Amino acid sequence: MKILTIVGARPQFIKAAPFSTEVRRRHTEVLVHTGQHYDVNMSDIFFRELGVPEPDYHLDAGGGSHATQTAKIVAGVEAVIIKESPDLVLVYGDTNSTLAAALAAAKLHVSVAHVEAGLRSYNKCMPEEINRCLTDHASSVLLCPSKQAVGNLAREGIHRNVYDVGDIMLDVLRKSAPQIAASRVLQKERVVEGKYLLATVHRAENTDNIDNITALLKSFGETEVPILFPLHPRTKKVIHANGIKIPSNVKPIEPLGYFDLMCCLKHAHKVLTDSGGLQKEAYWVGTPCITLRGETEWVETLAGGWNTLVGVDSGRIADALRAPTPTRDREDVYGNGTTAAQCVTILERFLESHSA
Ligand code: UD1
Repeated sequence: MKILTIVGARPQFIKAAPFSTEVRRRHTEVLVHTGQHYDVNMSDIFFRELGVPEPDYHLDAGGGSHATQTAKIVAGVEAVIIKESPDLVLVYGDTNSTLAAALAAAKLHVSVAHVEAGLRSYNKCMPEEINRCLTDHASSVLLCPSKQAVGNLAREGIHRNVYDVGDIMLDVLRKSAPQIAASRVLQKERVVEGKYLLATVHRAENTDNIDNITALLKSFGETEVPILFPLHPRTKKVIHANGIKIPSNVKPIEPLGYFDLMCCLKHAHKVLTDSGGLQKEAYWVGTPCITLRGETEWVETLAGGWNTLVGVDSGRIADALRAPTPTRDREDVYGNGTTAAQCVTILERFLESHSA
C-alpha cells in the first residue's frame, strides 16, 4: 500500500516517528511537511532526534491567518495527491494541517485515516476543536487513543471503522527512555530535580488574550519556586510585542527538543501547561499537571488528582501548586505503546477489504 502522511506542526513530527518506521517496513510512505511550523527548534530538531524520514514534499505554508494557512495546505496537498495517487492519506491530531489535508483527500475520494480521532473539548472557540470534529467526519478510518474517544464518536453517529488503538505518543515515550535518561538539560538549565516547575503556554485562548497571558505570568511569579518556561514562538511574540513582564523566578528558554523536554517534565515538581500532549506525558511519567484551561480532551488524566483544571484563575493555580502529590495509581488508559503497529495492521485490512 502507498500511504501519504501529512505532518506540519511540532506534535505531529513526534507522532510520525513510530508510524513512519512501522509502515516503511512493508509499504511505501510519502511524507508531506506542510511547513506550518518551520523554525529549527519547532521542526528540524524532531526529525533529527526521532529519526523521522526526510519529507518528500515541503509545502512552505507557514504563517498567515487560519484561512490563508488552511487554504494553502488544501491546495498543496491536493496537488501532491493527484501526482502520487496514494491508497490512503493519514493525518494526525487537530491542527490546521490536519483539517486541510483531510479536506483535500476527501474531496478527491481518497480515504482518510485520522490518528487521535474522537477527542473533544466541546469548546468550539478552540481552532483545534473545529479541526478535529471536521476531520473525524471526513475520515474513513478513525484511530482513537482511548475508549472515551470511541464513545465521543459514537455520540456523533460515527461507528464504522472506529478503533481504540491507544496513544501513539506513548510509543515514542517508551522507545525514548534511554535518551531521556541521558539528557543533561537539568544541569544546563541549572535546576535541581524535584525543586522546579515546568511551564508551557501556547493556546490561542491564552496567548491571543493579553489579559490571560498577563494573568498567567503574574500567577507564575507568586510562587518562589524556579519555573522553566520553554517559549513557543507564538507566546514569545505576544510577550515581546506587549511588553509583558516576566517574573524573576520564571526562566524563559528556547523550545526544547523531545528528549530534553521529557527529562524536564519527569523531574519537575509539577507542570503548568495548556498543551494537550504534555497533560498525557505528565500522567505517564507521574508528574502532577496543572492545566491552564477550563476543560480538557484528556479527561482520563483528571482521575486521582493527577491533572487539575485551573483556567487562568490565580487562586486556583496557587491551590493546585500547594496540593499534595497524588497517591492513587495511574491506570493504563492510553494503550500499551504498540499503537503504530496496530495502526498499520488496521490500514492493511481496511485497504484489502476496499480493493476486494
Ligand atoms: C499549532 C496547532 C496546535 C498545536 C500547536 C503545537 C493549529 C490551529 N494549532 O498551534 O493545535 O498544539 O501547533 O505547537 O493548527 N511560528 C513561528 N515559528 C514556527 C511556527 C510558528 O514563528 O516554527 C509562529 C507563526 O508564524 C504564527 C504562530 O507562531 O504566528 C502560531 O503558529 P500556528 O501555526 O498558527 O499554530 P500554533 O500556535 O503553533
